[in-house]
Amino acid sequence: MAQHKLIPSLFSLFKQGELGQEFFIIGFARRPFTDTEYAHMLGDVTELHSDSKWAEFAKNIYYQQGLFDELAGYEALIRKLNVFDKKIGACITRLFYLATPPDNYLAILENLKNSKLSEGCGPAFAKVTASKQESVGKWVRIAIEKPFGRDLDTAKELDMRLSEIFEEEQIYRVDHYLGKETVQNMIAFRFANNIFEPVWNNNYIDHVQITFAQDEGIEKRGKFFDGVGIMRDVAQNHLLQLLATVAMEQPASFSKEGVRDARAEAIKAIRPIDPNEVSQSIVRGQYKDYTAEAGVAENSQTETYVAMKLFVDTPRFQDVPFYVRAGKKMPKEVIEISIVFIQTCHLLFKEYGCPEIGNVLTIRIQPDEGIKLRVIAKQPGGKVALGAVDMNFSYHQAFGNHGIDAYEKLLMDIFKGDQMLFNRSDELESSWKLISHILKGWSRLAEPDPASQDEKDSGIPTYESGTWGPELAKKLIEKDGKKWL
Ligand code: BG6
Repeated sequence: MAQHKLIPSLFSLFKQGELGQEFFIIGFARRPFTDTEYAHMLGDVTELHSDSKWAEFAKNIYYQQGLFDELAGYEALIRKLNVFDKKIGACITRLFYLATPPDNYLAILENLKNSKLSEGCGPAFAKVTASKQESVGKWVRIAIEKPFGRDLDTAKELDMRLSEIFEEEQIYRVDHYLGKETVQNMIAFRFANNIFEPVWNNNYIDHVQITFAQDEGIEKRGKFFDGVGIMRDVAQNHLLQLLATVAMEQPASFSKEGVRDARAEAIKAIRPIDPNEVSQSIVRGQYKDYTAEAGVAENSQTETYVAMKLFVDTPRFQDVPFYVRAGKKMPKEVIEISIVFIQTCHLLFKEYGCPEIGNVLTIRIQPDEGIKLRVIAKQPGGKVALGAVDMNFSYHQAFGNHGIDAYEKLLMDIFKGDQMLFNRSDELESSWKLISHILKGWSRLAEPDPASQDEKDSGIPTYESGTWGPELAKKLIEKDGKKWL
């Protein structure tokens, strides 16, 4: 996380002059490193060393060895921070960024509290400011990476603990998909263009497809991923956030709470899945050879693929199915949202035939960020025949770049104190409610009930690497007379 995402983003912000004159990046972990060794390790993976500015940036990187569940390391960290405060002659704003295995969150929070690190420069500083909340909110922030909990109960427990230690204004629950340029653009695209809003409803939309396909596997994250699965890793957060951008109503204002309210309402409106009927609308799968990956249990039943048929119970989307899927080891990387409009073969063309699928609006999150509108056109030639063509907008071609990286955007927002692109706890609670029902359903499948006559699960379905997931995923959509695009 630090090597691949946080440090490259901080380095990029540094090069853009966005980090200010003085800043200190301190790693805190179990293994022993000197500051220099640690900085070198951070720059190694993405070869940041080769950049002429790296040495200047790396001077600001420090390291503190410590165990997450032992106070001593945190106390040593305080001493280090005090030296920096003294050097600057001020109380420096502290951001604690928890890019750790989620199992450690509670222990870390406990020790941030017990060591009083959570109080920033402490009561002495608080006295000279107008109110406690202002002093605390301004000077200490905490960022927590997803997955935020393992299910509804653990997410609630974590949230409760967080709110006992920090004010809501200090908490940044990170889902980096919210920081992606293309995801942010959904609000502009939907509400700044008059032509889409009138058709953005069940009178015109047949169904929505959201695909989160990655050609890579679990890379070197076997231990983490095996304990989590793609449902918790990607579906509970990134996929549902993508769904919310399509399903949400117009925010009352383009403000932190306006946008978060609209997102939260959309997620809350997703129809719950009955754990006893989970197989009717949810399909899971595991790529073959997954269990041979380093860090993965031999008999693991962890899913690397999930497809879901969901409904959003709002007047706008009543009865419009949302087919959403996420998978590792798919044929290619493609993360996109497709709005498939109802296809009516117009009277004029009935005798000539119409394409099976009509208008489709596709928002490509990545790669090749952009938007594509599929329209029906007359095929050139003497005869009347209709065909489908794409109208394409590419970020790169239109603006000369793909925009700012998600982590750069989110880090900047944390520094500025803007929480719009971060999860609020009610959003998370609704998403976990939905996902926990599904997880409950899966665990019931794994534990046959002797009293029941139901067909029980004979293990997780598998799929070949480089294919679009298990056969059942095709059936999930095809039984409704539709196809994955
Ligand atoms: C992370 C997941 O949150 O998102 C990974 O843990 C996934 O499993 C990644 O690969 C995808 O992010 P991006 O920005 O590379 O599309």
